[in-house]
Amino acid sequence: MRPARQTALEKVLPQIAIESPEAALDFPFTPEKVWLEIGFGNGDALAHWHHEFPNTGFIGCEPFINGVSNFCKLVANDDLKNIRIWNDIAQPLMAALPDASIDRVYLLNSDPWPKKRHHRRRVIQQESLDTLWRIMKPGALLILTTDHQSLAEWMLEQTLRHSKFEWTAKCKADWQTPPEGWLTTRYEGKGAVAGRSQVYLTFRKVDCE
Ligand SMILES: C[S@@+](CC[C@H](N)C(=O)[O-])C[C@H]1O[C@@H](n2cnc3c(N)ncnc32)[C@H](O)[C@@H]1O
Repeated sequence: MRPARQTALEKVLPQIAIESPEAALDFPFTPEKVWLEIGFGNGDALAHWHHEFPNTGFIGCEPFINGVSNFCKLVANDDLKNIRIWNDIAQPLMAALPDASIDRVYLLNSDPWPKKRHHRRRVIQQESLDTLWRIMKPGALLILTTDHQSLAEWMLEQTLRHSKFEWTAKCKADWQTPPEGWLTTRYEGKGAVAGRSQVYLTFRKVDCE
């Protein structure tokens, strides 16, 4: 790890680290809303949102320490009150979150696991959708992006099959165009340069039993 990142990690992470999944929502203020990002990578989007929406609380999950250290460097001089970071896979934290506690969930460019025998490792599964549905507030949005066609089809199929999420797209442009105010992550930018097109799948929690 580069020294600047190591320094930022040591300075910032102790202030924002979630020590146990049960403590995920322990912000030092009462946020108007809470957004969850699963697998934030280098943290470009999370750093952008935390500036844009200071009254929203952000929970970021990322197991990769180099990504976390980059994020720490991006926010090192900021007011950190609206950020909580879980430096591990998201599933145990999601399982511990209370019912109807999250206003929005982002999963951007999730690992595609292209081989069929690895599809069970994809983040979006019926079980994870059950958990997401439970922790999301009524009407909350789940935003999934990818430039990997097989993963896009998988996430759409899994989410529609789950039936407790409705796809908000009304026409092709709705899933081909980034939502307003979108920040292109480094990963998405590299895909665009390589000629891969991104899909933006937005689902709303349907409030039914
Ligand atoms: C392809 S990268 C995309 C990073 C970022 N979202 C972006 O768009 O630039 C996928 C990220 O998901 C993380 N990841 C993989 N499995 C995860 C899990 N179960 N929970 C949380 N993050 C996970 C990886 O460490 C990796 O940083």
